[in-house]
Amino acid sequence: MKIGIDKIGFAMPDKYLDIRDLANARGIDPDKFTKGLMQLEMAISPRTQDIVTLAARAAAEILNDEDKEKIDMIILGTETGVDQSKAASVFVHGLLGIQAFARSIEIKEACYGATAGLEMARNHVMAKPESRVLVIASDIAKYGVGSGGESTQGAGAIAMLIKKDPAIAVLNRDNVYQTRDKMDFWRPNYSPYPCVDGKFSTELYLDCLSTTWNQYLKENSKSAKDFKALCFHLPYPKLGLKGLSAITENLEDHHKEVLSKNFTSSILYSQRVGNIYTGSLYLGLLSLLENSENLKAKDSIALYSYGSGAVCEIFSIQLVEGFQKHLRKNRLTNDFDKREKLSIEEYEDIFFKTIEVDENGNAELEEDLSPYALMKIDGHKRVYRK
Ligand code: HMG
Repeated sequence: MKIGIDKIGFAMPDKYLDIRDLANARGIDPDKFTKGLMQLEMAISPRTQDIVTLAARAAAEILNDEDKEKIDMIILGTETGVDQSKAASVFVHGLLGIQAFARSIEIKEACYGATAGLEMARNHVMAKPESRVLVIASDIAKYGVGSGGESTQGAGAIAMLIKKDPAIAVLNRDNVYQTRDKMDFWRPNYSPYPCVDGKFSTELYLDCLSTTWNQYLKENSKSAKDFKALCFHLPYPKLGLKGLSAITENLEDHHKEVLSKNFTSSILYSQRVGNIYTGSLYLGLLSLLENSENLKAKDSIALYSYGSGAVCEIFSIQLVEGFQKHLRKNRLTNDFDKREKLSIEEYEDIFFKTIEVDENGNAELEEDLSPYALMKIDGHKRVYRK
């Protein structure tokens, strides 16, 4: 049975910060961010647009009534959960009006969670071929004003519908994964921001990539030449480029050229959104699919998923006939170019404003007319507007 990605949707906040404004405000040469990290903008969410509303918007972009009747599992990968107990996918289930007899769970392992979700979704459809599974990756990456990671923040969600005979790509059964118990990036329960050993995290990302890649090629008797594109987890685009250079070092020039061209297509969205943790790899995939001019049916794409801590996985997908018809070609002009640009003062105010509840567990929030928004906290309960 062929099981894979039938639809992909994306949502980001409608506000952004130009990374050059951030550099100037911090007394840093803007080239360090635009060339050193290859980052251009970052998406900034107000407190009324959390991982639940972003997830609901990403899914609403792709789901029709038939999907909502047939989805019987929602898996949401995140590391910025809104509750220690209730899964964000349960809120999303309610907001979207998915039929009742569905399973809803949240998965956490840094930026890797949604990849585990994809595998779970595939196994579920294998056992129940008529099922559709909604896999969502939704995160808001915040490191704090003036922090070392400030230039690598972002916010957004990716939603993928997994089913048999998919319209976009088949998930190949070639996954190779690795776990290393390391402290490169983590967030203790008492801290609003992650702790990060920045340089170590980049070394670990690259080492996990090369060792897993070698094992992947060996276990699957494949070579880099078998792929038309490689997608990477993108905490910032330059790290993906370093990864690409490392694993394609010995390839002939014409193969390198194709992979490099497709890499450029794969980073267009991340360059303007920033790190969205669990969704970053899949935002790269969406960017590639919607902007590459040389992909065709049957082409294979390898994906590198990395979550600090650390767990990583490499697997591949194969494009199916007609996949182009199920993608948007106007996202850059219709969505990205229409966002509101924030000043540095607005960014510092909006992105870091927290929700304080009174002694009864209530908080009123500013009005937000986005398709889904957090309206208030009422007796410690989050209340969303559909
Ligand atoms: P930093 O100290 O801001 O930057 O840290 P740097 O000094 O390492 O410089 C960055 C690059 O800019 C370097 O390029 C410089 O040479 C260059 P490289 O040598 O690496 O090729 N540069 C310049 N280029 C042009 N003109 C200039 C200039 N100056 C310098 N004037 C760091 C950067 C990413 C470490 C920091 O932002 C950080 O800590 N970010 C957060 C952690 C992170 O993103 N880690 C990535 C790997 S871990 C991961 O991917 C998991 C994660 O997504 C979380 C999860 O799994 O949940 C983070």
